[in-house]
Formats: sequence, C-alpha cells, structure tokens
Amino acid sequence: MNYLENLLAEQIPTSEETKKLGEISSTIIQKINDICKADNINASCTEVGSVSKNTNLKSSDIDIFVTFDKSYSVDYIEKKGLEIGHRVLENGTEKYAEHPYVSGYVMGIKVDVVPAFKISEGEKIVSTVDRTPLHTLYVNSNTDEAMVHDIRLLKVFMKSINVYGSEISRSGFSGYLCELLIIHFKNFDRLMGYMANLRGKLIVPENTEDKFSEPVIIIDPVDPSRNAGAAVSEENLSRLKLASKLYMAGREDILNHTPRINKNRGTHIMVFVVKKPDIIDDIIYPQAVRLKNRIWDILHNNGFMPVASEIYVGSDIEILIECELGMLPGTKVHMGPPVESNESIKFIDVWNSNARLMRGPYILKNRVYVDVRTEQRDMEGIIRKELKNSDIGKNLNELKDEIKIINGEDTDLEVVRKFFSKYLFNS
Ligand code: CTP
Ligand code: MG
Repeated sequence: MNYLENLLAEQIPTSEETKKLGEISSTIIQKINDICKADNINASCTEVGSVSKNTNLKSSDIDIFVTFDKSYSVDYIEKKGLEIGHRVLENGTEKYAEHPYVSGYVMGIKVDVVPAFKISEGEKIVSTVDRTPLHTLYVNSNTDEAMVHDIRLLKVFMKSINVYGSEISRSGFSGYLCELLIIHFKNFDRLMGYMANLRGKLIVPENTEDKFSEPVIIIDPVDPSRNAGAAVSEENLSRLKLASKLYMAGREDILNHTPRINKNRGTHIMVFVVKKPDIIDDIIYPQAVRLKNRIWDILHNNGFMPVASEIYVGSDIEILIECELGMLPGTKVHMGPPVESNESIKFIDVWNSNARLMRGPYILKNRVYVDVRTEQRDMEGIIRKELKNSDIGKNLNELKDEIKIINGEDTDLEVVRKFFSKYLFNS
C-alpha cells in the first residue's frame, strides 16, 4: 500500500459514519418534503454533492437541494428557501453564493440547504446552482466502485498538495473536477501519467476547441458551454503537474519535505493588518488582493523596491510586503532637461532658489541635474498619506484609518509564518 492509500484510509468515512450521514440527510429530506406538501409548494428535495455520489471524505459536508418548479420567481425561491432552511436547521446561519442559503450543523456534520430551480438536461438554467442535481445524476451513472475509490484518492492527493477547493482564495480544483477527471481518464494512475507529461493547458476532452482562455479547461458534460475548470489558477495547475511527476517518479520525499526556514534575509518586512469585515471570503478576498497591490505600487513608485509579498485572510486581513529599503535615502538624484533645450535656464532658476537643493545644478553628459533632499523618508508616513487618496474597494475603504503597520520582525502573525514556510506545495 503506498503512502496515498494510507492517507486515504484515514480520510475515508467509516461505515458507521456513512450510516449516520444517510440518516441525517433522509431525516432532513423527509422534513422538507413534508413542509412543501403542507404548504402546497411545488418543489422537491434531493441530496447532491459528494455524499450523494459516494465521493465524500470525512471532512465533506451534506448538500441538500430544494428544487422549485420553474414557474416560481427568483424572489420567491430565495425567500422560501431560507424559510425552509431555518425550519430544518436549528441554529442555521445564512450564507450567500449566487442565492442566499442556510448552513448549519446537525450532530456535528455541516449541512447546507440550497434553493434552486428544477431543470432537466439541456434545459436553460436560471442560476449556476441549477446544474448541481444534474452533476449528481451524471457522476452516479458514469462511475463504478473502483472509480469512486480513485476519486476519493484524487481528492486526498489534491488536498495533500493544497490545490483542493474552488473558493477564490484557494483557486484550486473542486470536488466535481476530481470526479470529471477520473471519469475521463478512467483511473488515478492514468491521470497521474497524463499530468506528469502534460505541457501547457489542461484541456478535457483533449480535442476541445480552445474557446476558453483559462489555464484549465474542463467542459461540464451537463452544460458544454461552461468551463468547469475556470476557477483553477495557473500556479495550482503547475502544482498538480509537478506533484504528478513526483508521484510517477516515486519522489514522495520531495512532496512531504519540510522546508528549511531562514529568517535572516537582510531586508525590510512590513505587515499591514486590518480587521476582516463580516462578508463572505469570495467577496472580501479580491479586495484584500487589491489592497496588497495598491500598497505594493505605492512602495514601488516611491523607491522602496518591493521584492516579495504574501497575503493571509483569517479573522484579520494580513498583508506582508518585503522591500529592499526600509527608509528612503536622504538625497535623490533628479534629472533635468538637456542643456540645449529651452527649459534648461528655467530648471536652473527653479532649483537655485529651492530649499530642497542639496547639490548642483550640475551637468552629466548632455543634461542638467540636481541632487534633492527627500522630504518624507519613512515608509509608514508615505503609505498612510497615499492610501488616503486611494480607492481600495467598497468594503475596505472605510477601514483605511484602522490599518495597523507592524515590523515583520516583531510579530509571528500567520502571514509571516506563511511567508517564511513558502514551499512548492504551500501557497
Ligand atoms: N459545484 C460546482 N462547482 C463548484 C462548486 C460546487 O459545480 N465550484 C457543485 C458540484 O455539483 C458539487 C456540489 O456543487 O458536487 C456541492 O459542492 P461542494 O460541497 O463544494 O463539493 P462536493 O462535490 O460535495 O465536494 P466535498 O466532498 O468537498 O464536499
Ligand atoms: Mg459537499
């Protein structure tokens, strides 16, 4: 048994756990069907997601869909969907994907109750979740026991190299993509062999016309106009390619290696911390990335020479930026016009009477130059001033003044740990 089978053995649900999941979902489905009947709602309830396909791991959730007749309005199904969700999930909280839905815990298992419209194959969808019940039908009718085993093995493999999950902060492979990959390549080892030798984009089926621009193109069999792989980043495709090569070469030592950490980089590491607003991660994460890019640009334009960065979003947004300089030099060379231009006398007049002049004006090759005193040299002051005039996203703008700026050497925040432990399969 290889190391992956050992990992899988730890993560595959036991028969008692499977029985418990079955009991939880049939109880909820029964309750929802009773509610629909009593209230005269034309909807039915189905289990979707990995539990309904036997491709779940211990950490998987139960996904229950309430599929409403297409004659209802979006408003109606959203309102009824939440109402039903709260009735069957005590302590449920409202979450937001394309529609709002209710998520809660039953006997320690996470359960989502999601409203959707009932559609059949080929019918036009109203929202993307409407396809999900069709995914269950497709996967169940195209897999056997061996494939189901290999789908779970692939999920474990993807998790071990940190590329599992389609949320934006991960930008990895969803459970459904794992299912489609094993269905297409028939088994785990064939997929590994293919990935180990793949160059360029991952395109499934291989002969698909290249009408999508993303690095991973996996056509959704229940809706060929959709690229089910659109969310996967180029880095995560690269991680899967490299991990497959290592797997085929039997090099688990590299896969499981713990990187050496060296903190004496002789650079300047700053961490920017702000409380994360109470908004779902898929919305706040891109704003956090925008804030990181904005700070990077400010540092770059002012000459601090940023060289690396890292981001971590937990209960706080933590942004780390490493720069070659921690403070700007006191004097800066400022280039003037060519001597032969009509601007040269004006340039000399302006600088001769400017209090910031440190040296010159002088001539280098064909131009006039001055050395000028830098007015503001400290990083924090420059950033605070420039951030005031920057748009950093709807939900972060109002928190600008609360951004804490910490020296990276004085803290062991998660983003600092993440930065120093960066490795092939850590992001
Ligand atoms: N789904 C999808 N695309 C996504 C996320 C979800 O099509 N990016 C659909 C799939 O049909 C999936 C279902 O929504 O089966 C439930 O989503 P989720 O619970 O995230 O995935 P599972 O396949 O159930 O995998 P896991 O074992 O991680 O719960
Ligand atoms: Mg699930």
